[in-house]
Amino acid sequence: MADQLILEARGLIKEYGEGGMAQRVLDGVDLAVSPGRFVAIMGPSGSGKSTLLHLLGGLDTPTAGDVHVDGVPLSDLSDRERTLLRRDRIGIVYQFFNLVPVLTAAENIALPAVISGIAPKTYGPRVDEVIDLVGLDGERDKLPNQLSGGQQQRAAIGRALLSEPSIILADEPTGNLDLRTGFGVLALLVAAQQDLGQTVVMVTHDPLIAAHADEVHLLRDGAFAADLTVSEQVSSEAAADPTHESRGRAVLEWLQELGAAGPARSAVH
Ligand SMILES: Nc1ncnc2c1ncn2[C@@H]1O[C@H](COP(=O)(O)OP(=O)(O)OP(=O)(O)O)[C@@H](O)[C@H]1O
Ligand SMILES: [Mg+2]
Repeated sequence: MADQLILEARGLIKEYGEGGMAQRVLDGVDLAVSPGRFVAIMGPSGSGKSTLLHLLGGLDTPTAGDVHVDGVPLSDLSDRERTLLRRDRIGIVYQFFNLVPVLTAAENIALPAVISGIAPKTYGPRVDEVIDLVGLDGERDKLPNQLSGGQQQRAAIGRALLSEPSIILADEPTGNLDLRTGFGVLALLVAAQQDLGQTVVMVTHDPLIAAHADEVHLLRDGAFAADLTVSEQVSSEAAADPTHESRGRAVLEWLQELGAAGPARSAVH
């Protein structure tokens, strides 16, 4: 089916802890993502954004509700099937890079293939391609602590792109970076969507970064409080603005109307 959703959350509930101590972090989250969309998720710290992303990626299981990938509920899959789906279809960029400190940039990028038992001569050319794509040619043999923050984040994105996944989940990929470096990292995700047709779901605090998405969803008190279709919100003149500043301003104004604007590092110039 041409219009089938690639990723869908239905009535997701997530509680941590048991009994009287249980904390309900997600309380009925619905999300429908069409193939090739770039979706941004915003929300205050602690609102459950990372929790949601982990559930969407099948890294954790919901207390109730389900995640569907290509129409298939993850709860219908065995552990092994879920692992394979994650390996082949979903690339995850974690909030804190999660690079292995004793491995070089190239080895970190190759790691998913190594874990899958693929031979180095098979994955080698793809690793070279990805290193080129994320611009780490000169850094491939450096350990994570010898890389800058932006380079570490690009290595983490390279690792997520290795298997050419159709879905990329990125948790604040620009959160720890300065503005310029952050835009370099964002450009990789935009290229993944626009050049390779990959579907991107990205958590961000930054309206100017979110403005590069097709749609923005605001998570608050365990559920989506509002949605914004970015392209519908801005004039055609603003949409053509290559700096995306007008789009960023539209996202900021939307947040302000909702009374949700946090510190907007880059939206105020
Ligand atoms: N493994 C866990 N066990 C218990 N509580 C958890 C666990 N993971 C997250 N939480 C709690 O769930 C809530 C949501 O956490 P989450 O990491 O999803 O927030 P977030 O929106 O990503 O925040 P941030 O913007 O700070 O990254 C927090 O109150 C957190 O303490
Ligand atoms: Mg988080």
